[in-house]
Amino acid sequence: MKNKELSRRNFIGAVSAVSAGMATTGFTSVFGGATDTKDKLAILGGNPVRQNKSWPQWPYMDEKIVASVEKTVRSRVWCRIDNPVNGTVATFEKEWAAMLNAKHCVATGSGTQALNTCVEALGIGPGDEVITSPYTDMGTIASIIVSRALPVLVDIDRESFQLDPAIVAKHINANTKAIMPIHVMGQPCDMDSIMALAQKHNLYVIEDACQAHLGEFRGKKLGTIGNVGCFSHQSSKTICCGEGGSVVGNDDELMDRCYTVQNHGTSRRGRSETIGSKYRMNELEGAILVAQLVNAKEQWKRRNENAAYLTSKLKACPGVVPQKQYDGMESGSFYLYTMGYRKEHFNNVDRSVFLKALAAEGVALSSYIGNGLHREPWVEHILGLKEYKAMYSPARLKQYREKLDCPVCDKICNEEMLMLWASGPLLGTKADMDDVVNAIMKVYENRDQLTKVK
Ligand SMILES: Cc1ncc(COP(=O)(O)O)c(C=O)c1O
Repeated sequence: MKNKELSRRNFIGAVSAVSAGMATTGFTSVFGGATDTKDKLAILGGNPVRQNKSWPQWPYMDEKIVASVEKTVRSRVWCRIDNPVNGTVATFEKEWAAMLNAKHCVATGSGTQALNTCVEALGIGPGDEVITSPYTDMGTIASIIVSRALPVLVDIDRESFQLDPAIVAKHINANTKAIMPIHVMGQPCDMDSIMALAQKHNLYVIEDACQAHLGEFRGKKLGTIGNVGCFSHQSSKTICCGEGGSVVGNDDELMDRCYTVQNHGTSRRGRSETIGSKYRMNELEGAILVAQLVNAKEQWKRRNENAAYLTSKLKACPGVVPQKQYDGMESGSFYLYTMGYRKEHFNNVDRSVFLKALAAEGVALSSYIGNGLHREPWVEHILGLKEYKAMYSPARLKQYREKLDCPVCDKICNEEMLMLWASGPLLGTKADMDDVVNAIMKVYENRDQLTKVK
């Protein structure tokens, strides 16, 4: 997302803590003390809940990572084809596939490239349609439109923020080739229903697991349930190297095609066989990733523990509803920790007022995605292109424009999403989590003051 880094920095910079100063009657704070319902909100001059504390920084960096990069720089092997078997990229592919219990991995230069590699390798192109969610990064959509296929964006579930399979079912037609479910925030979408739909209509499933490293659904790692799964290793992600991506899968032939596509159409056998751009990851990126994998499982476990703690404590606040999780979720990734804002429990003030009050308490949440992608200008752009006019009937393009209506997504973007950047912050201590809960609870308990916030 465009303002992602800015938001993350604001969040990290703004959060701070004073929990001990919370006063005496009203809700019981997570520290066991009672908190004064008359406590003055920090935005109106009271003491902030959190101050002068920092969060674990992200991206994660340690001396092992520095040494791995230095070794690669000194080796002068910077391109993966110079050491195709034991280089850092090949090593990352083997180790990442093993961590996910996947047969194969092909690294790429970004998550967008990983997704487009799959679109191309599955032979999806002009005249074909791919159903996905508007509540995502533009990389999801870009991976479809660069192949001149049609992304059909359908509405999402209000509580899970995920693709709604019942709505997906209504948009399947004879041109539909694939569903691209997004495990948004890093937690699994309703894969039981999505896989059943795909099976019924003979569709491919390309999992956009760009936010979902190491999350699990019914005993399988996210990214390994559909035909192929894709990850982003861009800086903010929980396993990252600046810019990077990976495709994972178990189908030998398909994964061989993925390698060929990302290698400008040139196969492992050295023949130039098909259409593909050059999407190769380089050895310096591989060097960072191999070293990042060392701590990845421990960090994933910690984020899950902290997320579970937050969710258990936030039950006390009816005005914030943690992201709904589907039956079958065994763990999340918690790239982001998100909640739905319910203004009726906050004296009917808009989300912007709540966010301001919370930031003043030292806990800055973000509203995340500003616009669902069905509202961005790329839609009119592609509908005006000669390729789309040639490959889709005027009636289909008219219907496409008319059905691009996602009211739940709009409501989440405009009124409800509350997001905590989690890659670094969810590696914090229990006291850090208590600050988040106490800040939210303080604003909730003192919601009568919110109407005075300018
Ligand atoms: C859900 C989702 N899909 C795709 C992408 C694209 O990944 P990348 O930025 O590595 O190209 C992202 C990145 O933020 C994402 O969050």
